[in-house]
Amino acid sequence: MTVDVLRRPLRDLRVSVTDRCNFRCVYCMPKEVFGKDHAFLPHSQVLSFEEIARLVRIFVGLGVRKVRLTGGEPLVRRDLERLVAMLAPLDVDLTLTTNGSLLAPKARALADAGLKRVTVSLDSLDDETFRRMNDVGFPVQRVLDGIAAADAAGLAPIKVNMVVRRGINETSVLPMARAFRGTGHILRFIEYMDVGTSNGWRLDDVVSAREIVAAIDRVFPLEPQGPAYRGEVAGRYRYRDGAGEIGVISSVTQPFCADCTRARLSADGSLYTCLFATEGRDLRPLLRGGAGDEELREAIESVWTARADRYSELRSADTAGLKKIEMSFIGG
Ligand code: GTP
Ligand code: 5AD
Ligand code: SF4
Ligand code: SF4
Repeated sequence: MTVDVLRRPLRDLRVSVTDRCNFRCVYCMPKEVFGKDHAFLPHSQVLSFEEIARLVRIFVGLGVRKVRLTGGEPLVRRDLERLVAMLAPLDVDLTLTTNGSLLAPKARALADAGLKRVTVSLDSLDDETFRRMNDVGFPVQRVLDGIAAADAAGLAPIKVNMVVRRGINETSVLPMARAFRGTGHILRFIEYMDVGTSNGWRLDDVVSAREIVAAIDRVFPLEPQGPAYRGEVAGRYRYRDGAGEIGVISSVTQPFCADCTRARLSADGSLYTCLFATEGRDLRPLLRGGAGDEELREAIESVWTARADRYSELRSADTAGLKKIEMSFIGG
């Protein structure tokens, strides 16, 4: 472990507002595990918007500059715009990661409440492939309607995240690139990761960022571009003909832990310092037990300063089998 690892500032907070989702993506919430009998968090354990807002304010006091609302699917939580309005006055980049299914009717209210932009997950434009991947038969057109509504509401630049899994949607890479070129939306390809324990991840299923860039470059020539900011997760490339840019998130083949400044807060109030953590620090007893802001602040700070996470750099056949927290629980 290097000293640098310990000195990383806490800049980016991902807040899961629910562990539920209306999709069952094959790489995230496979039906065999997240079926009818799956025990989601009981309502009493889920933080209220007031509790979330209080914690976020404390995180901002500790240096957080970017707050991303996630889930599960954050828009399945009723009245999410009320939370957005509570967070909007803070001096942060306030964003949302969503599967887009409920975005069309919500985009305007979210923008009016003070949301700045959205990232939409979309794994294929081919309806059959998309329905198979979300595993609830959800049609791709309604996600495209959500993206259009977000655009019209000014939630731009919109990022579109595509997880590429070999044998399932790699043939969708080029059509996606073609469709989003020139739209102003930023398409990002994500290497399939071994998050959680339920998706049956195998290294063979990963399509590397290098392969993806090469495939697109053959048809639409690309050139690398520097990061937009230090610690940016995505590697950026721009189309040489000026049709915009794409990103690749290569957390399997080229880990970026050394620059990782992200913390995650689960819907039930646990703090995780790595996407691949096996356990978190439960802040709810303090929150509901009458602790003052200072006490909460100290608890968060002590967890962060003790952190030495660099899972993606240590990934191996052994670590893939560890009992890790699910991505649907702490957010993408
Ligand atoms: P913006 O630049 O603000 O849009 O955020 P971002 O680049 O961090 O993008 P986003 O939050 O949409 O993350 C994109 C994807 O990268 C996630 O859905 C994850 O799949 C992956 N990812 C994000 N954060 C981490 C991380 O800390 N570790 C790893 N290994 N993967 C991550
Ligand atoms: N690998 C990579 N990304 C994943 N996501 C969920 N599961 C995985 C996985 N196994 C990410 C996707 C999705 C977001 C909500 O979570 O980016 O867009
Ligand atoms: Fe839901 Fe997102 Fe997971 Fe898909 S990736 S199951 S949309 S939380
Ligand atoms: Fe950060 Fe953990 Fe992801 Fe590495 S694996 S970038 S430490 S969240």
